[in-house]
Amino acid sequence: MEVSQTTMEPKLKTDSAPPEQKIWQHKHILDLDDFTTAEIELVMQTTKAMHEILSRPIKKVPTLRGKTVVTLFYEASTRTRSSFELGAKNLSADISNLTVSSSSVTKGESLIDTLETIEALGADIIVIRHPHSGAPDLASKHVKASIINAGDGWHAHPTQALLDLYTMLQHKNSIKGLKVAIIGDIIHSRVAHSNIWGLTKMGADVTVCAPSTLLPKGIENPQPHFPKVKVTTNIDDAIRGADVVMGLRLQLERQQNGLIPSIREYAALYRITEERLANAAKDVIVMHPGPVNEDIEIASSVVHGSRSVINEQVTNGVAVRMALFYLLTGGNRDE
Ligand code: CP
Repeated sequence: MEVSQTTMEPKLKTDSAPPEQKIWQHKHILDLDDFTTAEIELVMQTTKAMHEILSRPIKKVPTLRGKTVVTLFYEASTRTRSSFELGAKNLSADISNLTVSSSSVTKGESLIDTLETIEALGADIIVIRHPHSGAPDLASKHVKASIINAGDGWHAHPTQALLDLYTMLQHKNSIKGLKVAIIGDIIHSRVAHSNIWGLTKMGADVTVCAPSTLLPKGIENPQPHFPKVKVTTNIDDAIRGADVVMGLRLQLERQQNGLIPSIREYAALYRITEERLANAAKDVIVMHPGPVNEDIEIASSVVHGSRSVINEQVTNGVAVRMALFYLLTGGNRDE
């Protein structure tokens, strides 16, 4: 990835077949299961170029001038939605945030009708968060615009996994061989799902840890299409020697009666604490996608402690989303 010294924009070379175009094959970003390692590496390199832009006093570049991005969130969001919005604005795109609660969805308009309406208004990229798994995939089959999945049900949250990979790379030399422990409400976590795909494709050694009721059925012996990870119900086993410890939010709104005996017992057995982290690698980093239930899945002292990179994850969300906009629109070739 080359960066223009005059505009500080990431530049694609002017050869007839730019190398990025050969690597990048995606029109939509639905999950990381269909990403190649070369594509993930390209996202990391492009994010680095965007990061450089964001370190400048004037962060705005004209890369997406004339393009329109619409965000369509059927679920609440703080980090994801605002970082997509900031990223689009930094690249000079026109951006519209459709608030579902004040749209015609409240009059019964279907998802497909809403998408077709947004496309008729000129959207080039639609960023969608939806409570139902598969909604972004359905959307991608009905519109010509590029669809970015900003989180669908329990299924996937690919842009979160990409910013998590980028954050790990800021602290570790390589993802290959990295011992990553993902601890918490695995069954309901689209973040865990997409991270398992991304991390295993990049060669990390992934362990997932939860009470058996919060682990997907059959995760020890997954279907051929799903990556193999280590599985434990013991948090100390998961943390021992880990380079990265990733906590997950206990999704209180998605719990059904009986999955955990009580929040107090869950916290006693599965909270990431300073004492437990003493058995991790010396330079362990602690991650969490947010929002955090402090002192339930992770101790307050850890959230705000020196090993925590939780705020860096949020910051990196803007650069990653800028990189994805850039790659989806073919970049700003020298013309
Ligand atoms: N990590 C994440 O998806 O956070 P938001 O729900 O605030 O977007």
